[in-house]
Amino acid sequence: MFQLESKITNNEDFQYNQEKNQYLIEDYWNKLNTVINGGDPKAIKKHTERGKLLARQRIELLLDKNSPFLELSQLAANGQYKDAFPSAGILTGIGKVHGKDVMIVANDATVKGGTYIAETIKKHIRAQEIAEQNYLPCIYMVDSGGIFLPEQAKVFADKNDFGRIFFNQSRMSAKGISQISIVMGSCTAGGAYVPAMSDETIIVKEQGTIFLAGPPLVKAATGEEVSAEELGGGFVHTHISGVADHLADNDTHAIHICRNIIESLPEKKRAENNFLAPKYPIDDLYGLIPADGKPFPDIREIIARLTDNSEFHEFKKEYGSTLVTGFAKIQGQKVGILANNGILFSESALKGTHFIQLCNERNIPMLFLQNITGFMVGKEYEHKGIAKDGAKMVNALANSKVPYFTIIIGGSYGAGNYAMAGRAYEPRFLFMWPNARISVMGAKQAAEVLITIKKDQAKALNQDINAEELESIRDQIVKKYEEEGSPYYSTSRLWDDGIIDPVSTRDVVARVLQIISNANKENIGYGVFRM
Ligand code: COA
Repeated sequence: MFQLESKITNNEDFQYNQEKNQYLIEDYWNKLNTVINGGDPKAIKKHTERGKLLARQRIELLLDKNSPFLELSQLAANGQYKDAFPSAGILTGIGKVHGKDVMIVANDATVKGGTYIAETIKKHIRAQEIAEQNYLPCIYMVDSGGIFLPEQAKVFADKNDFGRIFFNQSRMSAKGISQISIVMGSCTAGGAYVPAMSDETIIVKEQGTIFLAGPPLVKAATGEEVSAEELGGGFVHTHISGVADHLADNDTHAIHICRNIIESLPEKKRAENNFLAPKYPIDDLYGLIPADGKPFPDIREIIARLTDNSEFHEFKKEYGSTLVTGFAKIQGQKVGILANNGILFSESALKGTHFIQLCNERNIPMLFLQNITGFMVGKEYEHKGIAKDGAKMVNALANSKVPYFTIIIGGSYGAGNYAMAGRAYEPRFLFMWPNARISVMGAKQAAEVLITIKKDQAKALNQDINAEELESIRDQIVKKYEEEGSPYYSTSRLWDDGIIDPVSTRDVVARVLQIISNANKENIGYGVFRM
């Protein structure tokens, strides 16, 4: 394969970008550090004094030692609810147990008793969607008071609300995707269906409880007085009701049993280990990502920092050059790369369409490196039919049979977001860099559009419009777009699967390529009925 030659030297611009991007990265890590410990110290103390491990410790113990954990949407709900729900009170991510990729969904009981707000549900359901698409066994570490009651109207009744979690479990079980629960705390009302719908369930003695209504509600409804343990504790469910299958002494023991269950599942193929690192250091990216909204360097400079031995077999290099397409390997795994190198023209969209078809023909997954202000506008381009050419690319993508995923490395605006595998096009994963921006158009452009509309309205009515009013519209719109275009705004609302440090991009892409290589199995009929 052809090796890319970097033309960038360690010049003044490079050093300026490095310095500016250092602040951006520090801000990113500071934000992550505020959520990494979960709830407030009082809640953590109460939790640990009960002999329970924290959600993060539970995950660490479950995973193979020194294996990677691809955590998702760590900053969900960040900046909302007065920051009372770090990571939306739930940890999700993909890790390895006995060498097998598994999806983990762990409630964090130190965050409002592990209860569910809208973002918690969205995160839980997104984790299940990824598991279903990529054939990953699911492990639910349950420790939750169910719905966060003050928010019930936003989380209970609609299609993708709380009930969808159990629907998904049933569907996945029917496809042969194992559903395993470890009940490590409360599991009340609808939440009781998480273990009840699992293929195999473990419950921790004198700590885990499962019931449709807790003791206070039972008393109110029937007058019966009963303790939580007597109503639905570990002994009851493993000896009397059969709602759980394994009784564990404590968190550590429960996790050990879960590892044994995963060990007994069928083997998956393992990834290759012999590959070459890129010729150029990945932390060059800090010097390449332009500070102050300046244009990106040639996208091949970025690709050269990501691919094995910086090799890239470019496709149609001389045609539609604002979209760069080609094949490469990342940690030994083949991938087709589509990367923006300017505005999309008809030719670039046609080339993209052709390349997507090629990847499908060859069964090679696709990586979209998205940095796009949109399609070219104007009379010449409309006359040439840019809308129909863009539609071809979107159509090829929407019907792609090979998996694809996206990293937004710069701007993501307008219809360019769609053609380059934005969220609506169901990429298997979508991550953003901390410098990324996402909105229907840029702040200045949106302000100009709205001002033009105001001026036209005034003109039609033969009215004057004062300059101050126009300035105030501009300021408001720019401010709003600046805030809403931030990757942190996006990730808080789960429009993506998380923000990643650019220097971890190669590792993240390699992990994703391994994960998506899990073949989809044929539907085998029913899931597992609990007896
Ligand atoms: N809705 C809203 N808030 C809830 C909640 C719920 N379902 N369950 C717990 N919380 C809040 C508490 O108000 C408390 O908030 P604070 O920190 O601001 O005071 C926090 O979560 C921790 O709850 P607490 O009871 O102090 O913790 P705990 O560890 O002793 O008990 C539970 C946790 C989940 C076992 C217990 O709170 C409980 O039983 N909750 C009700 C469960 C329920 O009936 N759910 C039905 C909804 S489907």
